[in-house]
Amino acid sequence: MINVPKGTKDALPSESYKWQYVEATLRKVADLYNAREIRTPVFEHTELFVRSIGDETDVVSKEMYTFEDKGGRSITLKPEGTAPVARSFIENSLDALSLPLKMYYITPCFRYERPQAGRLREFHQFGIEVYGATTPYLDLDCISLAYNALLSLGLKGIVLRLNSIGCPKCRKEYTNALKEYFKSRLNEMCSTCKDRFERNPLRLLDCKSPICKEIGLGAPKITEYLCDDCKAHHEKLCQLLNDHGIPYVIDQNIVRGLDYYTRTVFEFVTTELGAQGTVCGGGRYDNLIASMGGKQTGCVGFAMGLERLIMLMEAQNVDFGRRYPDVYIMSQSAEYVDYCMKLVNVLRNNGISADTEMSGKSLKAQFKYADKINANYGIVIGESEINSQTIKIKKLSDGTEKEINIADLSEYLLKNI
Ligand code: HAM
Repeated sequence: MINVPKGTKDALPSESYKWQYVEATLRKVADLYNAREIRTPVFEHTELFVRSIGDETDVVSKEMYTFEDKGGRSITLKPEGTAPVARSFIENSLDALSLPLKMYYITPCFRYERPQAGRLREFHQFGIEVYGATTPYLDLDCISLAYNALLSLGLKGIVLRLNSIGCPKCRKEYTNALKEYFKSRLNEMCSTCKDRFERNPLRLLDCKSPICKEIGLGAPKITEYLCDDCKAHHEKLCQLLNDHGIPYVIDQNIVRGLDYYTRTVFEFVTTELGAQGTVCGGGRYDNLIASMGGKQTGCVGFAMGLERLIMLMEAQNVDFGRRYPDVYIMSQSAEYVDYCMKLVNVLRNNGISADTEMSGKSLKAQFKYADKINANYGIVIGESEINSQTIKIKKLSDGTEKEINIADLSEYLLKNI
């Protein structure tokens, strides 16, 4: 037997309604904020990710699914959604449209990570990218969209952790100060941190190892190094979040794992998913478009992991909405199946989700099947029903019955589902 590859999962027919519910809810929220969908290919030229995410990051240096295609090109399955959107923005001259431009995507992503609960090799992101201004109002709008998306999904207890990592100018001074601080304690730190010391010193701040965390507590704080403009941007965003009643905590250890960020960085974090508690991550990246050959463009965005959202919704017993046919029509015996097939199609044409017996089951087996598929209502069709054109419609969850004319069935169901 051939199994699914490690770190990937099927969305089975019994579970896929959860995905549909989450995706539909997220699309609705994106729509409320005037974001338009953008779809980019599942694979891109490898160079796109190396240049945008940064070749020193874990994602690029260890986790990409890269291969040579038959034409000898180096191709990579997208590990995230931001770089492809940036590429498309430049390539299709989307700056010629009115800016700011708000875009969203729902896409599979691929990272060769060690799989565990909430960490997969193929996972799915809902992402927002807003292009065209550097004002903190866009940061607020983006964070507000993420916040309302989480609320709309019915999730509770998720904390917004906010930081600013400044611009390249103030960050340079800060990373020098960080290296100076960590230098004397480096021999006590984990091998990953030793490795990151030269390549990516900011990441020393978000190491999960207890000893590195403790050493990190005494590290210099970015706020003391922000230049006047970055400081003003951060303070204005904090004020806006307060004004809009979006709760947050400042967490100077939020530095993010991708190189393109400037100024605002944020994560929405839960304590209910163990080590993989970050359900959403994002921030501002004002230099990415220019570094890729486009015009200088203020950008801010985020992405949420759909698997983590669904896991958390399950843990919090959130209702994923309707997941059954409205009605299941049973046939007293094989000779009434033709009639039942016609009746379900009338119902479907009237916008009612309906199904009927087609596989030679006994009436008893049909009742069992109706229960298994979670049908809302059940109807039995036999000779007397056809002759009298009246049926008993049974609510399967509590067994209550009502007699109605077949001609009134659609109207009754539309009122009662
Ligand atoms: P990221 O923090 O790498 O950011 O990923 C965003 C979210 O994707 C994470 O918070 C997590 O929920 C989910 N995620 C990441 N890796 C995995 C995995 N292996 N398994 C399951 N879920 C995962 C980005 O990707 C940026 N592009 C976000 C962004 C958009 N920044 C600006 N615009």
